[in-house]
Amino acid sequence: MTKLDTDLSGSPDAPRRAHIKSYGCQMNVHDAERMADLLAGEGYVMTEEAENADLVILNTCHIREKAAEKVYSELGRLRVTKEQRAADGRTTLIAVAGCVAQAEGGEIMKRQPNVDIVVGPQSYHRLPGLIARAEARDRRGAIDTEFPEEDKFTALPKPEAKRLMARGPSAFLTVQEGCDKFCSFCVVPFTRGAETSRPVAAIVEEARAMVEAGVRDIMLLGQNVNAYHGDDGKGGTADLARLFDRLSAIDGLARLRYATSHPRDMNAALIAAHRDNPKVMPYLHLPVQSGSDRVLKAMNRRHTRDFYLRIIDEVRAARPDIALTSDFITGFPGETDADFEDTMDLVRQVGFASAYSFKYSPRPGTKSAEGEDSVPESVKSDRLLALQALIVAQQTAFNAACLGRRMPVLFEKAGRFPGQASGKSPYLQAVNVEIPAENAISDFIGRIVDVDISELASNSLRGKLAEGQSSAVGGKAA
Ligand code: SAH
Ligand code: SF4
Ligand code: F3S
Repeated sequence: MTKLDTDLSGSPDAPRRAHIKSYGCQMNVHDAERMADLLAGEGYVMTEEAENADLVILNTCHIREKAAEKVYSELGRLRVTKEQRAADGRTTLIAVAGCVAQAEGGEIMKRQPNVDIVVGPQSYHRLPGLIARAEARDRRGAIDTEFPEEDKFTALPKPEAKRLMARGPSAFLTVQEGCDKFCSFCVVPFTRGAETSRPVAAIVEEARAMVEAGVRDIMLLGQNVNAYHGDDGKGGTADLARLFDRLSAIDGLARLRYATSHPRDMNAALIAAHRDNPKVMPYLHLPVQSGSDRVLKAMNRRHTRDFYLRIIDEVRAARPDIALTSDFITGFPGETDADFEDTMDLVRQVGFASAYSFKYSPRPGTKSAEGEDSVPESVKSDRLLALQALIVAQQTAFNAACLGRRMPVLFEKAGRFPGQASGKSPYLQAVNVEIPAENAISDFIGRIVDVDISELASNSLRGKLAEGQSSAVGGKAA
């Protein structure tokens, strides 16, 4: 603990400190950003250390058992922190937010009585009131897992420009939430609720403010982002391609991405946007889960293997260089060796730039958890390893094909090593570049600069500034 911390924590004027930890998807991470913005308006200062925090928020994920269990081990550790702080005369509020909060509600407090607040992903705009209630009720707690009428984004304060700026030039923006698909393995329709889309005008306004603060690359988020159908303000609805048209009219916004999509919702306009809208990046995360029709049917995915492959063909016809990524589950109940081989075959056929894969985890309340978790753990693991080896090989091949190419890189931050800047290629690869000594790294942040890709690293690319680029950005004196 620093001297400053010691001095401030005892004083009545000390700012309250909050610590937020995220466990889940990109939307979960973005929710944590919005909670931090909200709390900043309430006078909280963020801290990296839970031990120094007056308020600790665990922003949880319910998607697999492992993710959910992490919360309880963390709550066990926090109990000790809370007791130690109490011995020093300091109170600590513990809040569980996110999808475990939604799924388990008050049960969390029964299992861990040290929890003061339980707040779901659709009601965290009410945190200030919940904090006040938790404090006033002499720490007996406050629970809010409603799916309220009001839209949390309308209720949340607009983030301050300096807070947006501090997060760098690539940012998330939630445009759609919830899911009506009910894949048989998935908790999301229960934890995030029914599918809803934010109005176009609200999204454009938020994007404009982000761009004014220096954001250049926006990842539009939704559990089913390509099912987006927001109020267009003219009595109709806009689909995602139409939303892209509106957003790409914003000067200074250079790149648009979206995640995560469902194969059934890839409409022709969206596919065409990858060809026609230069701001829509050549990157598509399109989860398929399995390559076996039998398994896809049992998963209630509502698409076949051929349907998926057809969409991939159409996307590639529109944008041949597109980076395709996906999600897979191994060991879904009833998955045979032949089913798994169908998945491997699909992967070979598509050629992914990267992918996430997971062992099937039965989740309470979902349809597939009603039956037996029939594939033995060791088989799930073996299949996962084989799949991951294939995906890593494809990722390496995709990156290797970038060697020698010149790519526009959006610089986001200083690199891991001194003199390096780190950015993203159009394909969302991390690219690290040595910056000449006469340039300041900070001059590159937020700029899109041509880079010649020269080397492969394990999870990233290395490159050199293309000729003339360093003087274009300007020297230290500029
Ligand atoms: N909206 C996204 C999925 C969000 S969940 C979509 O429609 O694809 C992210 C990924 O977690 C899923 O794509 C799936 O691969 C994985 N997942 C979800 N539920 C799971 C479960 N019960 N067991 C294992 N993996 C799961
Ligand atoms: Fe879950 Fe399926 Fe909805 Fe994706 S589409 S969030 S996997 S239910
Ligand atoms: Fe997890 Fe909820 Fe996201 S369950 S994956 S944090 S929507």
